[in-house]
Amino acid sequence: MTAQILDGKIISAEIVSDVRAKVDARVASGLRAPALAVILLGSDPASQVYVGNKKRQCANAGIRSIDIDLPADTSEADLLALVARFNQDDEIDGILVQLPLPKHINAEKVIELIDPVKDVDGFHPYNIGRLALKMPLLRPCTPRGVMTLLERTGIDIAGKDAVIVGASNIVGRPQALELLLARATVTICHSKTRDLENKVRGADIVVAGVGIPHFVKGDWIKAGAIVIDVGINRLQNGKLCGDVEFDVAKEKAAWITPVPGGVGLMTVATLMQNTFDACVNRAD
Ligand code: GUN
Repeated sequence: MTAQILDGKIISAEIVSDVRAKVDARVASGLRAPALAVILLGSDPASQVYVGNKKRQCANAGIRSIDIDLPADTSEADLLALVARFNQDDEIDGILVQLPLPKHINAEKVIELIDPVKDVDGFHPYNIGRLALKMPLLRPCTPRGVMTLLERTGIDIAGKDAVIVGASNIVGRPQALELLLARATVTICHSKTRDLENKVRGADIVVAGVGIPHFVKGDWIKAGAIVIDVGINRLQNGKLCGDVEFDVAKEKAAWITPVPGGVGLMTVATLMQNTFDACVNRAD
């Protein structure tokens, strides 16, 4: 069996166009467009690519984007003051601080200062707690984007065995909460996990987010499984690849995401959904 491709390019474009229609309806009714503040410190190449994509999708979605580019040596106090200012600004619906932050800044402290109703990344402990308690408000973008992809397969997730490879705050942990909310049976694997291969072999759904090229071997994939690859790794030859050995895995899986053209595009499209949701929630 050759897997069907979960095409992030097509699905993310549909999501952004849905957001656009909702924004246009809001504006037509006399309300202002949603506004997203994106703060970037320094010039990390990967972060610049992410932020560039965010600006482009904001334009497509009709969302006002306020971009603050600061030098890498900006002090923690100055960054906190900027976040506090955006918290107070009634015209701003979403605040995103691009990660990773320079080492001299305590990222947790910055995330905790963001007003949870403007936390469009869904990283604030309040939003993670709400997701854990089955009452999500703003949900982390990558895991929410993965759930959108899973919905598109038409397969009922309830009762499925889901294995997540990687336990990061941005992907693995919130992904586990999302899959649990959808009533999957969830296993989170990490660097201390024993016999990863057998755990993956038993999975109906595999989500890989470790940042190591081809870490999940294609022949570990169970026949008919859904494989979601969150990894975006650059190889020596300059090409991008995921955490899963795609060419082998696609011969066993029922559904699989490509890299590039899979989850990465969904993250930014979901950010547009979250920004729209934050704007509506704040007005309520
Ligand atoms: N860096 C890599 N992914 C993300 C993300 O989803 N949000 C933020 N703020 N930074 C990131």
